[in-house]
Amino acid sequence: MTKDKGTYYISTPIYYPSSNLHIGHTYCTVMADAMARFKRLQGYDVMFLTGTDEHGQKIQTLADERGITPQQYVDEIVAGIKELWKTMEISYDDFIRTTEERHIKRVTELFNRMYEKGDIYKGEYEGWYCTPCESFWTEAQLVDGKCPDCGRPVQKAKEEAYFFKMSKYADKLIDLLKNNPEFLEPESRRNEMIAFIEQGLEDLCISRSTFDWGIPVPVDPKHIMYVWIDALSNYITALGWPDDPEKYNKYWPADVHLVGKEIVRFHSLIWPAMLMSADLPLPKQVRGHGWLLLGGEKVSKSKAAKGNDVIDPVVLIDRYGIDALKYFLLREYTFGQDGVFTNEVMLKRMNYDLANDLGNLVSRTVSMIEKYNGGFVPELTEAGKCTDEVDFDAQLKEIAIGAAAKVEAQMNEFKFNMALEEIWVLVRRANKYIDETMPWALAKDEALKARLDNVLHNLAEAIRIISILIYPFMHTTSDAIRKQMGLWYADVVWEDAFTFEMMNGEQVKKGNAIFPRLDIEKELEELYAMNAKPEDENIPLELKDEIEYDDFDKLDLRVGTIIEAEKHPKADRLLVFQVKMGTEKRQIVSGVAEHFKPEECIGKKVIVLANLKARKLRGLESKGMILFADNEVDGKETLEFVSTIAEDGNPVA
Ligand code: ME8
Ligand code: MG
Repeated sequence: MTKDKGTYYISTPIYYPSSNLHIGHTYCTVMADAMARFKRLQGYDVMFLTGTDEHGQKIQTLADERGITPQQYVDEIVAGIKELWKTMEISYDDFIRTTEERHIKRVTELFNRMYEKGDIYKGEYEGWYCTPCESFWTEAQLVDGKCPDCGRPVQKAKEEAYFFKMSKYADKLIDLLKNNPEFLEPESRRNEMIAFIEQGLEDLCISRSTFDWGIPVPVDPKHIMYVWIDALSNYITALGWPDDPEKYNKYWPADVHLVGKEIVRFHSLIWPAMLMSADLPLPKQVRGHGWLLLGGEKVSKSKAAKGNDVIDPVVLIDRYGIDALKYFLLREYTFGQDGVFTNEVMLKRMNYDLANDLGNLVSRTVSMIEKYNGGFVPELTEAGKCTDEVDFDAQLKEIAIGAAAKVEAQMNEFKFNMALEEIWVLVRRANKYIDETMPWALAKDEALKARLDNVLHNLAEAIRIISILIYPFMHTTSDAIRKQMGLWYADVVWEDAFTFEMMNGEQVKKGNAIFPRLDIEKELEELYAMNAKPEDENIPLELKDEIEYDDFDKLDLRVGTIIEAEKHPKADRLLVFQVKMGTEKRQIVSGVAEHFKPEECIGKKVIVLANLKARKLRGLESKGMILFADNEVDGKETLEFVSTIAEDGNPVA
């Protein structure tokens, strides 16, 4: 049996419950789940933590827009996130919410320890803030005046605030990154971080006072803690540090924090510095993965429009099943690199690798065992030995019993795609073995029955091994295969993947195809059509009568949020916006393409002249008008949105 190998603690980031999760978030959680299942199968005592990061300015603003409390807002979204993980059978051991009492009291304690150490002082913050990233920036760090991480506009922030003496830990952090290269993988991220520190590490602003959705600063409750201080602490507060330390003592330091590349900086600089300040051990490793891209940009909710790729995991799982989606995510992308997401690459992976390669191997083998041996896996005999010039049996066996070690080696490097490729080397070899040995030809000659039996036996062994190897990635498929192979009675044991002579007399039973073949063209059409927003989300606002330009004083002004923006296909000067105003979503075309890139408009709160008569602009309907105003910056004429957020980040009175 599997022996105890010690503990293994893996975490995902805790997601912002600002909107439902998309395929990009699912990607990280699917990787963490596969690793957790893999380590459990190998005999580790695993702690797999996930959760939600519920405080901060972004959540407060979203809740205000909907006229509900931030707590109501996050409760609703978190319920959906938990439902998604349940549907996907994500095997987390704990789910931490930063609004839970257990978290709040422990973060407060951590803050106090850093304060007592003399690492926190009061000062004044003056600089820039990116709300979507909840990130502070200096003027010099901005790229073209925008957030260097996400490229979105930043807001000026000036407030009395508390600071953490990050600068004090700069040398220690450099040592950490240089002397423990395994602390941060992949290497490219490590070099970025070293360069970041070497530019000069400034003290970090760790409190806010212009809004209140957060955990109060214990020494000065007019301030709330910066959301990243609150969030990063989850990795130990969930373990009960410091008041209920059983799990903390057992699992800390974490083996790995799995995070997206844009938040590596928080995990490999801020988090270790916080722990150093509190005299706590550092996590063993931070691993930064790449992004799934949609049309060259990071997948995000605002990009899903009619005719686009479907990125909602719930829809995809509903149509293709959990395992097909998980397999695709783990097989298609290379850890650490960005990768393009399209429904087409997804469907091709599902069809070629799952329906064709794996599905056919299982169904052909089960059918042949039913047809040629009454449904029972034959015994291996000396009389049935391979007598061909090339020993196909030996070749298949060598690959089959060698696969587990190769999968293990790839998994230790977080190379999920290569681990699956090693398994598929075996899947394809087994399919080729059928073509080489031609059981249907052997079946024609009674004298060759012993040989036929060995062939069927070897195929059954290969599939048994495959069912173990795929278990961490696709456990329901593993179960389905084992049921068909008559292995329903046996536990999945990792060590059993290293031996070839285990099956004898199991009764196979044909079931449904484990992965149905997909008509890719048809699927694509249906997926693209689905992205249209449901009718009931578009309830027209009650407005004054339509007016003409002359009736300017009768205008009906409304606040809207730009949720989509793209260039007009037929006019260079025009941008086509989808604007959400309360219950209504509408299209507005504006002649501002020379002033704004479409992507920088998304998320903007704007004032809309809502009752302006609809008209067509180069063939596209435009209903209403977004208000812009002339401005002068550095002597240059510019155009600005008439926005509800002033430069200082506060709402306009
Ligand atoms: O950053 N492809 O939360 P978050 C791959 N609350 N990964 C993606 C992705 C994409 N298209 N889009 C998002 C936060 N992600 C903080 C974390 S941890 C103490 C606090 C990943 O909801 C992203 O890279 O904005 C990140 O790792 C994770 O989703 C959470 O993003
Ligand atoms: Mg983020």
